[in-house]
Amino acid sequence: MKAVIIKEYGDATQFEVTEIDKPVLKKDEVLVKNVASSINPIDYKARQGLLQSMFHWQFPVVLGWDVAGEIVAVGDKVTEFKIGDKVFARPDIDPIGRNGSYAEYTAVKDDKLALKPENISFEEAAAVPLAGLTALQMLRQLNLEAGQKILIQGGAGGVGIFAIQLAKIFGAFVATTASENNTEFVKSLGADLVIDYHENTITEVLSDYDAVLDTVNDIEGGISILKTGGSFVTISGALTEEQKEMSDKHIMTGWLQPNGEDLSFLGKQIRNNNLKIVIDSTYPLTTEGIQSAQKRSETHHARGKVIVKIK
Ligand SMILES: NC(=O)c1ccc[n+]([C@@H]2O[C@H](COP(=O)([O-])OP(=O)(O)OC[C@H]3O[C@@H](n4cnc5c(N)ncnc54)[C@H](OP(=O)(O)O)[C@@H]3O)[C@@H](O)[C@H]2O)c1
Repeated sequence: MKAVIIKEYGDATQFEVTEIDKPVLKKDEVLVKNVASSINPIDYKARQGLLQSMFHWQFPVVLGWDVAGEIVAVGDKVTEFKIGDKVFARPDIDPIGRNGSYAEYTAVKDDKLALKPENISFEEAAAVPLAGLTALQMLRQLNLEAGQKILIQGGAGGVGIFAIQLAKIFGAFVATTASENNTEFVKSLGADLVIDYHENTITEVLSDYDAVLDTVNDIEGGISILKTGGSFVTISGALTEEQKEMSDKHIMTGWLQPNGEDLSFLGKQIRNNNLKIVIDSTYPLTTEGIQSAQKRSETHHARGKVIVKIK
């Protein structure tokens, strides 16, 4: 099958299209013929070699963790899905590093899958799993309740866009940070208060918040706007021992746990038109396409998701 690989850690020029074997299915997996995938910051962090302490991969490595496509084979133990189902998923990160979604086929464990909402394209579906699941699970980790005030950092980013909309579904008051050119955009998603982070720090504007979702590694700022008993989670930075041990606030690190049930919840919101999907740009599954897609993501100013069209 066609796949985009890296043979060593480095910059975006490491990517190249090649032919590799299709994944061999385990009994609890399905084989998805990918129609689209998407780029996430973990891709370039992994490509740069920054995650070597977590992942012990063997080159060549296939990156990519958003799958949208059609099932073409099912393992013996799979009962909930069948050949022909149109699905989306954030697959597991495999120990060898060969099962990424920058490829024509990806093997996905059945408990990570959900049926693709019929009212969106495969490209839109590919925008959802990693970023959408992260947003949902972090809001749950914060125990966000109706009427509470939350700051969502990076409102125009992949995670931020889902987090703003989900926090509004949960009934919260949402403040977010964005560049000036994204102010009206994040308001259109439901943000109640927007801070242009080039002009003001969050501590100049906000205080006494119930919750903070930190996507930009502003841990000190986020903690300092919390009220006593408030909750903070970072998905992009490392806490100090002192921060972890704070007794009057709940200070946490968050990691997405891929899960088909949560993805089905997001699918339901999409079917009911409660959740908009925002695509920044789309690139083909070619050497130049993946290189350009990664460079776009690495600007840190994509508005929404960078998509890879595979078929
Ligand atoms: N732990 C986990 O499980 C997990 C899961 C998903 C993501 N993450 C991490 O979370 C982070 C965000 O991911 P993402 O997919 O949302 O990234 P992304 O889509 O690349 O974020 C791009 C957005 O970030 C905004 N931005 C850049 N610098 C900012 C700043 N200083 N303040 C506020 N906004 C800023 C930009 O908005 P403007 O153009 O308006 O400036 C842009 O729209 C990454 O570090 C990623 O690795 C972790």
